[in-house]
Amino acid sequence: MTAAPIRFDVNGVAHSVEVSPWKRLLDVLRDDLRLTGTKEGCGEGECGACTVLLDGVPVNSCLVAAGQCDGRTVTTVEGLARRGGDGETMLHAVQRELVERGGAQCGICTPGIAVCAAHLCDRGALAGAADPRARVRELLAGNICRCTGYQLIVDAVIAAAAAAVPALPPTDDAGERTP
Ligand code: FES
Ligand code: FES
Repeated sequence: MTAAPIRFDVNGVAHSVEVSPWKRLLDVLRDDLRLTGTKEGCGEGECGACTVLLDGVPVNSCLVAAGQCDGRTVTTVEGLARRGGDGETMLHAVQRELVERGGAQCGICTPGIAVCAAHLCDRGALAGAADPRARVRELLAGNICRCTGYQLIVDAVIAAAAAAVPALPPTDDAGERTP
């Protein structure tokens, strides 16, 4: 099929690419935009290595056609970190915990897990879970890792979810609840 302009927002930046509407989003990101953080594992929607957010919802970018992205918003692993006021890169809590706890080995699965887990943590998906470890395993079931055995990934996601809860400010009002 002939190329057509696809206009979309990726990590807060407006892009227009002239590609076949059938080209995979995964390939547009990696080849046309050079956002190589998103990885290809199976290429068949089974492993989750290519996970990105499309309008805020996790999708396997190997199964999404470029034509489906016109006018929409994509967030890749490159878009999780933020710039602090001093210009320093501030990793998302999930990224920081994956690094600090050794939740990545070969790293092929890591961007997809980071994107999916950040999405879950930002939405409080673990709040109130009776068994947070089981909940993380359930919610990340579509992201396969063949290196780590998952334990350190689960540890990282639970720690990141806890970090997403704002600490209570100090108060002299003993017994008073504070927001
Ligand atoms: S590469 Fe997309 S799900 Fe495996
Ligand atoms: S760290 Fe290698 S597949 Fe997960």
